[in-house]
Amino acid sequence: MTYTKSRHIAPQLVKAYWHPLCLKSQVADDKDFVRFNVLDFEVVVFNDAGNLIAFDNRCPHRGTRFFTEDSGRQRILCPYHGWNYSAGQLRIPDAKSFVGCDIGKANLNFFKLAFCGDLVFFGIEPRATLIDQLGKDIYALIEQTTTHLQRAVDFNRYAFESDWPISLENALEPYHIPLVHRDTLATLKLGKGENVFFGENSIWYSPVENEKVARRLESLSKFFVPHEAFSGYMSIFLYPFSMLSSTYGYSWSMQNFFPSTHADRTWFTSQLYPLSAASDRYQEIVSTFMASTAQNNRAVFDEDHSICKRIPGDTWSWDAPRFHSSLEAKLLHFRASCAEWAQQAGAITTSDEDPV
Ligand code: FES
Ligand SMILES: [Fe+2]
Repeated sequence: MTYTKSRHIAPQLVKAYWHPLCLKSQVADDKDFVRFNVLDFEVVVFNDAGNLIAFDNRCPHRGTRFFTEDSGRQRILCPYHGWNYSAGQLRIPDAKSFVGCDIGKANLNFFKLAFCGDLVFFGIEPRATLIDQLGKDIYALIEQTTTHLQRAVDFNRYAFESDWPISLENALEPYHIPLVHRDTLATLKLGKGENVFFGENSIWYSPVENEKVARRLESLSKFFVPHEAFSGYMSIFLYPFSMLSSTYGYSWSMQNFFPSTHADRTWFTSQLYPLSAASDRYQEIVSTFMASTAQNNRAVFDEDHSICKRIPGDTWSWDAPRFHSSLEAKLLHFRASCAEWAQQAGAITTSDEDPV
């Protein structure tokens, strides 16, 4: 298998950063869970009698996976020998039979959790606090926005058949929109807009230049709770693997492009969160609008996936591409962050062909 730099830095990026997974509302009730794949492991966020925990989905006895669904409501109960966990306690049937081993030390393998507004992040050994990682402006924006969002109305998950930086960089540049999204996103006629950089993170603000669509979108404002939002399309990149985007603030869509251990696979998840309706009588209008937004988003991601899977993983490096458009500024910024990170972490090797 050909060596790619992306696989060299991925484990360190996973370990050193906070990664957003879901909203608190998705795990609001006792025993609610959501499950994610990252590299060769899993992360489950679970509501343990009102307390949120994150762990690796493996039974500490002999490794059986507790949860196989993407999300749901279920006890942490191993179907093999019945080990179970609740209210902060691991319970072991016939614990007295475990002699000659320190059974009192058995526990789940936990990850760290942090919150910004209602957004839930997990970490392994994050090198910064969440606010330092996001920067105070993005932190404040997410904090203010996420508290008005409803439960996810769409949970779209599949493996992109492309390496994670290929999948992610596609989401970082609008240069591909006219061709790849000709009949979907391109119909909004998104303007060149403005990129604003916050450390390794960035925001793209783009006006909707199709006036008819813009007028229609603006007219929807009255159906939603009053909110401050950019009048147009905005997309926040949370280095290293996640995007949060919104049109007029009516809904927020979050994508995770988590690395896998294969050079041609990205663990992709997209979730759609509607802004709350202004009143109960507008709930149906909001639901109809969200159903069509979810359908459009799915079409757009399918188009992205189709083009990404034509790009071999070994085309990627943290160096700037030889030819680049001003529309690829966020991509260059992402690569510079990866290069700097790799250098700090001593991940640069002398030959691109070294096997990992
Ligand atoms: S593997 Fe889970 S109880 Fe034995
Ligand atoms: Fe795209």
